[in-house]
Amino acid sequence: MGNFNLPKKAARLIVLQRIELISPFLAKIRKLFGRYFFSNFVTRFFLNPKILKEKYYQTMADEFSMIERFIDSNDKIFLSIGGGLGGLELIINQKFKNNKYHFIEKNYVSKKVQYGWGGTKNTEGYNNLNLQKNFLKMNGLNENQTNIYDFDNDTLPEKKFDVIISLFSLDYHYDFSLYKDYLKKVSKSDTKIIFDTIRADYFSQIFKKVEIVKTYNNTVHKSKRVVCTEFWN
Ligand SMILES: C[S@@+](CC[C@H](N)C(=O)[O-])C[C@H]1O[C@@H](n2cnc3c(N)ncnc32)[C@H](O)[C@@H]1O
Repeated sequence: MGNFNLPKKAARLIVLQRIELISPFLAKIRKLFGRYFFSNFVTRFFLNPKILKEKYYQTMADEFSMIERFIDSNDKIFLSIGGGLGGLELIINQKFKNNKYHFIEKNYVSKKVQYGWGGTKNTEGYNNLNLQKNFLKMNGLNENQTNIYDFDNDTLPEKKFDVIISLFSLDYHYDFSLYKDYLKKVSKSDTKIIFDTIRADYFSQIFKKVEIVKTYNNTVHKSKRVVCTEFWN
């Protein structure tokens, strides 16, 4: 099985970004003592980075196999919205070399991480862009392949992307409308926009083609993974 190298402190981010990776014991602690205690104390001192990075690798490899058929060697420019540390993009890079990856993320960890639907408020963040940068570099993504943008402070990249991926972020935790105009600008008629949404039906009004890849009934809220292409207008 493959694995990732993990910078010190990044195990905490993996857990906050992918809460399903915690052990049943830590899940109980979280339930008993609450989210604030869990996010600020347990994730700092009680994680096993070795086990976590293996689980994270496996999860990202599974995510890749689900979307692999939508990606081919002509796809060169990728955008990741809320990609967390970027494990999925690392696996894509292992298969298709020399692509460019642009990441838009948040550069802070919320004090009391809530995994709900924030609508257009979008105040939750669980990342650290320096740790993300190190993680990508330690795992084979060259600096000239990578650009990381802070959603709250940077000008977002204005180029045409081949593939745009947002797992459990766009329209899962915050409203698609936050990115709608931007995504129109940076997509072509064949750009594949892959994300998890709590309202898949709504997207047939927005895109000419919407393919449902998977239905999740046991995640934080019921959702569907969709691959959308071509805005109606
Ligand atoms: C539940 S995590 C999912 C991370 C990753 N996609 C994965 O599947 O492991 C959601 C991510 O979205 C990020 N996020 C929240 N609001 C965002 C925004 N407006 N733009 C980009 N990223 C955002 C958070 O910081 C967090 O890393």
